[in-house]
Formats: sequence, C-alpha cells, structure tokens
Amino acid sequence: MGRHRREVSPNGGRVFEACKARVAVLPDGDSEELVSKAASLAQTLSLPVCDGGSTNAEQHDFLLLVKERRLELVEDVDGKRGSILVDFCRGAMAYRLHTARGSRQLLARAIGARGACPTVVDATAGLGRDTFLLAHLGCSVTAVERSPVLAELLRDGLARAAAATDADTRSAAGRITLVVADARDTLQKMSDAERPDVVYIDPMYPPRKKLALGKKELRICRSLVGDDPDADQLLNVALGVAHGRVVVKRQRHAPPLAPGRVGGHLGRTVRYDVYRPFTKSREMGK
Ligand SMILES: C[S@@+](CC[C@H](N)C(=O)[O-])C[C@H]1O[C@@H](n2cnc3c(N)ncnc32)[C@H](O)[C@@H]1O
Repeated sequence: MGRHRREVSPNGGRVFEACKARVAVLPDGDSEELVSKAASLAQTLSLPVCDGGSTNAEQHDFLLLVKERRLELVEDVDGKRGSILVDFCRGAMAYRLHTARGSRQLLARAIGARGACPTVVDATAGLGRDTFLLAHLGCSVTAVERSPVLAELLRDGLARAAAATDADTRSAAGRITLVVADARDTLQKMSDAERPDVVYIDPMYPPRKKLALGKKELRICRSLVGDDPDADQLLNVALGVAHGRVVVKRQRHAPPLAPGRVGGHLGRTVRYDVYRPFTKSREMGK
C-alpha cells in the first residue's frame, strides 16, 4: 500500500511513521468536554482536529472520533463507513473471553501456562484482543504497540475495562501495562530482571481475500498500519530476550515466520509456533 513507510529517528531509535494515512481527530459533538478531549488527544498524537474550519473530515483517510464514553477509528472507503473500537466488556471480545474455552486453552498451552502464569510481552498488541486473553488467563502482560493511533484505541478500551462491573475484567485490565513503542527497542532495553518468560508475536498476516473482507477490525488495522514485513527481525530480538519461549501466531496453513520451531499448537483457524530462546538453546547444549 503506497501510504506506508518506515522511518528511523535521528537518535537511531525507531519511530512509528509506517502509516502515511491521513488521520484527524473529530469530536462527536460540540460540548466543551468533547472538544477539549479531542484537542488534547490531537496534541498528544500530533494530529489535526476537524473543527469545521480548514481541516475537513473529507480530507482524511481515518478519523479518530471522540465520543462521550469511547474512542472510535472511522474509515471511509468509497462512501462506505466502517469503524472499530476496543471493548473488552461487551461484543465479540467479551464473548471470546467468557465462552471460547477451546481457543483460551490453546493459547494457554502455547505460552506454557501450567499452574503459575508466565510473564508475557505481547510485542504486537494491536487492538489488544490477545493481550486481554493472556491477562484474563492470569498473566502479567506488557503490551507493546508501535502505532500511536491503535495504542490510543487500546488505552481507551483498557480504561473502560478497568472500571467494568465484572471483577475478572477489572483484574485482567490491572495486569496489563501498555507501552507505545517499537517492541524491538522495548525488548532490547530490558534489564535482566525485566525480561519476560514469554514474548508473544502476532504480526499482520499477509492478506487473504476471505479473511480481509470478513474481519472488519483486521481490514481497518491493515489499512492503517500496513503489513509487518520486519516481523522476522522482531522474532530475532525476542529470541535473545525471552527467558522461556517465544510464541508466534500464524494462520493455520501459513508457513512459519522462521525456521527452528520446537513446537506448534494447531487451532481451527490459527497456529501457535513455539521457539526456544537463544539462551535456553545454549543451556541445553551444555
Ligand atoms: C495482527 S496485529 C495484532 C493483533 C493483536 N494480536 C490483537 O489481538 O488484537 C499486529 C500489530 O502489531 C503491531 N506491530 C508490528 N510490529 C511491531 C513492533 N515491532 N513493535 C510494536 N508493534 C508492532 C502492528 O502495528 C499491529 O498493530
């Protein structure tokens, strides 16, 4: 997609500039509270605000719509509007948390959660669905997302989950720390004490017609951030940092991200590939 590009900041750290999509912030009403919320979000993200003046909604590919109780990302394609938000309290995610026992158990097996839950860095947090599932299993999760726009949606969903009426949802939200950065940098900067048991990676899948059309969230996310062609580099960094294992989520029949898997957990539509970190491989070779 022509509007995606990666850049490196002058100090050598990676900044997320992958998305050259035009994004603006729009308050969903003209109350003082909404307008000021929108202005402060726009300032945080260095985005323009649609105020009916020179910045018009139509000039943008995406709008971050600031509503009274939530944040939505709206995309207009050929006059068709689609929007996404992060909501762990109701809808598909809440359903997945409370009823999808099979997929929870599959993920639990993949990360090696037997009894005590491992600490996890979810290096590709996206809309946080896997992050939240991991936290719901009992893991402490550091969720890293490099798209500041997606991270804001996730922050919004987490804030509502932290105030949910359901106690399990509140506790899961309390086990998540959100970091807006490139996970390669976050992982490389970790001290020995901070290194997690597990690094979990779910890179953007190469587009498949059926999936891309069927899943609105995935379609809008990909349209905003593009694919993740540097996922193999992320895996390499993760292998040098995780204490216990690195888990990569793939489509069921997709080729592995890299050779060297030591295990795989096959679900109906996805597969979790397990890799042994470099340190562990060295220990085992001794
Ligand atoms: C397929 S989505 C992840 C979906 C997520 N597992 C969920 O359950 O919602 C991939 C996400 O990883 C992010 N990402 C890819 N590489 C990254 C990196 N090196 N550091 C931080 N985020 C990254 C992308 O911006 C994108 O939002």
